[in-house]
Parts: sequence; structure tokens; C-alpha cells
Amino acid sequence: MLIAIASDHGGFKLKETIRKYLAERGEKVVDLGTSSEESVDYPIFGKACAEAVASGKAERGIVVCGTGIGISIAANKVKGIRCGLCTSVEMAELTRKHNNANILALGGRTTEPDLALDIVKAFLDTEFEGGRHKRRTDMLDEM
Ligand code: RB5
Repeated sequence: MLIAIASDHGGFKLKETIRKYLAERGEKVVDLGTSSEESVDYPIFGKACAEAVASGKAERGIVVCGTGIGISIAANKVKGIRCGLCTSVEMAELTRKHNNANILALGGRTTEPDLALDIVKAFLDTEFEGGRHKRRTDMLDEM
């Protein structure tokens, strides 16, 4: 699977941890930055990841900022993006099963790295259930 990853400075360290984890899993990764802990603006990086996924260049995306909130808002501005901010494995499973989330958002300052990697694993390994949920995600995609 080709996965686009992006973060601001608040999510930089966790993004680096995620990039290594994805490489170990054998996933293809496109890293859209940022590249250090120097202060940057999260909307730029959320948009870059969202456009990579919406255009089909990447199959899934993972975005990280301090809390995951700002960068998830940015990603969800792009048509076709269903970005779920997750703080537990259960949320990651449900955002795939019910929302068919194509981008996962995480908080680098609010979620411990070990838990974050468990969340990433659940996000990548859980399938969309379709059925009644498809009608609702179709409604999202029309908005
Ligand atoms: C940056 O200081 C911080 O505001 C950002 O990483 C994020 O938490 C925004 O939602």
C-alpha cells in the first residue's frame, strides 16, 4: 500500500516513528514533511497529504500535529477525504469499519508512540464494512 504521511513540528517526532514502522511493515511511504521541529503551519501539511490521497497518488494518509485536531480539520477540507482523528485502537477500527476513513490523524503531543503505532496498525489492517455505512459515506462525499 502507498501511504502519504505529513506532520507539522508538533507531530514531527511521531511522524518519524511512524515512517520507520511503515518501512518495517514493507509499506511504500511518501513523506510530505515537515522535516524538523522548526515551527511550521499545519494546514499546509494537512492539505498536501489530503491532496495526495484525493488524487489517488496515495491509497491512504496519516497526518500528525500536536493534538491531531488542526491537521485533521485541514485534511477534511479536501473533497473526497474522510479523515478520522483517533486516540484509541477501537476508534481506529471503527473509523475504518464505519467511516471508510482514508486518512488517520494522530496527536504527537497527546498520544504515546507505542499506542500510536497500535492505532496505525488497526487503521491499515481494518476493512470498511460497507452496507448501511456506505450510504452515509456517500453522503459525506457529496458534501
Ligand atoms: C502547533 O503549536 C499546534 O497548534 C498544532 O500542532 C496542533 O496541535 C493544532 O491543532
